[in-house]
Amino acid sequence: MRVLLWLLVCLTMALPATAQTTPDRSATGGAQTLADIMARQNSVAVDDTFRRENVGDSASLPGVPQLGTQGGVSDPEFWRALRYGSADVRVSAGGEVATVLVQDGGMRWLAYRAGPLRQYGGWLLLGTLALLVVFYLLRGKIPIDGEKTGRTVTRFRAFERFGHWLLGGSFILLGITGLITLFGRVAIAPYLGKEANATFLELGKWVHNNVAWAFIVGLVIIFVMWVVHNLPDRTDLVWIAQAGGIVGSKHPPAKKFNAGQKVIFWSVVLFGASISITGVSLLFPYELPMFAKTFAVVNDIGLSSLLGLGELSETLAPQEEMQLAQLWHAILAFVLMAIVIAHIYIGSVGMEGAYDAMGSGEVDEAWAKQHHSIWLEEIQQEQDTSQGNPTKQSPAD
Ligand code: HEM
Repeated sequence: MRVLLWLLVCLTMALPATAQTTPDRSATGGAQTLADIMARQNSVAVDDTFRRENVGDSASLPGVPQLGTQGGVSDPEFWRALRYGSADVRVSAGGEVATVLVQDGGMRWLAYRAGPLRQYGGWLLLGTLALLVVFYLLRGKIPIDGEKTGRTVTRFRAFERFGHWLLGGSFILLGITGLITLFGRVAIAPYLGKEANATFLELGKWVHNNVAWAFIVGLVIIFVMWVVHNLPDRTDLVWIAQAGGIVGSKHPPAKKFNAGQKVIFWSVVLFGASISITGVSLLFPYELPMFAKTFAVVNDIGLSSLLGLGELSETLAPQEEMQLAQLWHAILAFVLMAIVIAHIYIGSVGMEGAYDAMGSGEVDEAWAKQHHSIWLEEIQQEQDTSQGNPTKQSPAD
């Protein structure tokens, strides 16, 4: 009886093992199957010659015999080295980029792009729009003080307006196509379908990549034309102290540009330049790495510890450089879009007479006196000395 029982136990244990020795592995192309894995987990001895003798062309990979193209015995140290970038990977083409086979920063980038970037970025834009609607409902359109005079002064010449519209028009196109790139998968595909989303993305990418150059040219034009008028001076302090007259009823004196406009100018110039540089580095992948070097400077001057960021990594994989460029590009784009939305509001529905400056280029003297009194006096003095036509003047450039 004991012998019989022993035989039975042996048979039950042997059965699955025997079953595993000749399973049908055609579905996995000869690789292990779920049954093999389950058997191993049940501590059943599995004949693994089908794997051991099938490690691909390991002979052709000197130094890494365990890395066959068709799988091989697992080597945790080796995979860790690969993952953390210390494996000695040699490639015949592709340069440094191709030597990075595993880059786990990619998962952090993906999670950030699909999560906080979309959420905070989206809320920033919607919040800005909502604030402007509330502001409009409370304050309405800022009117011109008193009656219009009917006399105009030239605020912006044709070339200035060209530079502004080149910058503004390209910015709007870049903003819309950028948002499509980021939100298409969640905002277009579920409603209009993946095909429609793919078409939008393809078109958007083409527009974004090409219109970018117009933005860069526009940025250079407005910088050269207006930088002198945007240097901070004492009148800005008065303007800021009186909150620009938007909140109260007084309108503080200002030159060609008031302090609020100077903030917009420097935001556009600095953020726009940074967006452009990272954008160009996205256009030419791996050619313009800049974050490791920037982090080194930020560490050196102590800015990183001041901001509580600790020591920033000064050695970055080429892929990490691209991921950071993409995130920085999009984060700054969101901030600048919020600022520009507020700027567009003031220049259109928010303030009576403001649009004329960029439309025809001619503004009513009453508007000029209200918002840029010092500038108006300057050009009137110029006009007096040159004995020109008092109703149409050249701007005080
Ligand atoms: C001026 C030079 C610019 C260049 C060279 C540039 C280039 C690029 C490139 C190559 C991409 C990646 C597109 C892709 O996935 O195929 C991108 C994405 C993007 N760009 Fe720009 N861009 C520029 C300006 C702007 C501006 C001014 C804005 C905002 C108004 C903007 C907003 C965005 C956004 C939101 C994305 C999507 C980011 C994402 O998918 O996560 N870009 N840009």
